[in-house]
Amino acid sequence: MSTLPLRHVAIIMDGNRRWADQRKLPRLSGHKEGVKSLKRLVQHAGAIGLEYLTVYAFSSENWQRSKEEVRYLFELFSNVLRDEFTELADNKVRLRFLGDMSTIPARLRKSFERSMEDSKNNTGLNLQVAINYGSRLEITQAAKRLALDVVAGKLNANEITEDLFANYLFTEDIPDPEMMIRTGGEMRLSNYLLWQAAYSELYITPILWPDFAPHNFDEAVEEYAHRNRRFGAD
Ligand code: FPP
Repeated sequence: MSTLPLRHVAIIMDGNRRWADQRKLPRLSGHKEGVKSLKRLVQHAGAIGLEYLTVYAFSSENWQRSKEEVRYLFELFSNVLRDEFTELADNKVRLRFLGDMSTIPARLRKSFERSMEDSKNNTGLNLQVAINYGSRLEITQAAKRLALDVVAGKLNANEITEDLFANYLFTEDIPDPEMMIRTGGEMRLSNYLLWQAAYSELYITPILWPDFAPHNFDEAVEEYAHRNRRFGAD
């Protein structure tokens, strides 16, 4: 049993391109270095017994980046899944993708679906990767599906509660993150887990994502342990 003070950490992995710029490397190579950082953290999170880790890999707004960068990122996701899935599964990681899958290229979508199916009984770290994710999109789609269920007579509008609504989100049965970490120093939420992070502690660090190491994660958890969460009470 883990002695961690929290179950779920969400991360905005920002600063990959700045990391590459600082080293005068091709900008996009920063994303490859970001994958290494994620891999280190996933191993660490599993080792310390974290239950849920949710990372923002591609937002529904990231389509506005250059065609070249979008293609690069999707190739990276596909290669990482191909190369790392076996090791993730050996480490009992349960993988889930959160986001609107309808506009993800079909082959990649199928490999996402297969990896979710193949890892669904794993009992280690629950790793959620948000791809083509945006909170407003998520909440709008949830409202639409809920409305359709009401129209179809599956439930009564009076029965709608916060818990029921949350079941229509991409995160469904996943508990809310107690802490949200953002690397790269920007002070915003960028349309990430707006519903789920209503009471999350924010931890923003100037460290760029490729440099964010397991000990930095431990420092964030340590700071979390000392924060006084009041949920709006005195
Ligand atoms: C933000 O850095 C990062 C992204 C948009 C992509 C994040 C993706 C990874 C870390 C790879 C993860 C891989 C898998 C398999 C999930 P940025 O490009 O906004 O950096 P900047 O702020 O320096 O411009």
